[in-house]
Amino acid sequence: MKIVRSISEMEALTTHLKEKDKRIGFVPTMGYLHDGHTQLIDKCNEKSDVTILSIFVNPLQFGPNEDFERYPRDEKRDIEIAKQHQVDYIFMPSKEEMYPNESSVKLYVKDRVNVLCGKSRLGHFDGVATVLAKLFHITKCDLVFFGLKDAQQVAVVKGLIDDMNFTVELIPVETVREKSGLARSSRNVYLSELEKNEASAIFGSLNYAKKLMFDGENNPVIIKRKVTEFLEAKIKADIEYIEIYNYPALKEIEVINERIIIAIAVQYKNARLIDNIILDKD
Ligand code: PAJ
Repeated sequence: MKIVRSISEMEALTTHLKEKDKRIGFVPTMGYLHDGHTQLIDKCNEKSDVTILSIFVNPLQFGPNEDFERYPRDEKRDIEIAKQHQVDYIFMPSKEEMYPNESSVKLYVKDRVNVLCGKSRLGHFDGVATVLAKLFHITKCDLVFFGLKDAQQVAVVKGLIDDMNFTVELIPVETVREKSGLARSSRNVYLSELEKNEASAIFGSLNYAKKLMFDGENNPVIIKRKVTEFLEAKIKADIEYIEIYNYPALKEIEVINERIIIAIAVQYKNARLIDNIILDKD
């Protein structure tokens, strides 16, 4: 496994790989790797000739009051995990390497961002789109792997790829959970044991919503109200949202008769957690 820190070296390597007709698979991350990330790496290995993992905590996607500075980082551990999972190249640029100057161009995401996390994290998806556009160019990837844990990100990146004519194929991958049902996240380290136990109720409430739907309830307002009551009784954290939209358009619906997402965000003292399930009506 090769560790690459400079853009020019990564570009030279990927140019060479393309000349040799290699199918390049890419897994973009911000590091502090866990089973969610390694599942993406494993899927990438299955489908590609070469796996590139990027680890870059992207300042552009963090708001002024968010956790950029204290976002968990552990380079040594990440390198070990990447090796164990047969990554071919880790691309780990510094902030200065990726953004040597104040960027003269930033992408602006227009659709699918005024809901869910985009509503409270203004400019977040602009930052995500901008860094991914750079990374897609640098890695020259044929396939890119994203987790459905961040389903809004998957929808936004699909828009980025289609609208900007990137030729990369996006492969969405199921959410990896702890035994309790809690979705794996680098931010789970901010939770106390008590909070962690309690937070498993987030997945519980998504399953409750699923049950209501399959028992015949198709009114999103009623499902949201019942799920809110269910979750409020089980956790002490602030519920930021419980929403139902069609997916991947992320538009409001009056009746559930198509593919939908039920998404939840809760704010604990030191961590904001998100989770969702995507369901087809039939
Ligand atoms: P990060 O939060 O590190 O996540 C990297 C990838 O891992 C994303 O595609 C995310 O959806 C996926 N992932 C995280 N937890 C997961 C879980 N429990 N199960 C399955 N997949 C999971 O998302 C980002 O970084 C950044 O926004 C990035 C795309 C790298 C751009 O900076």
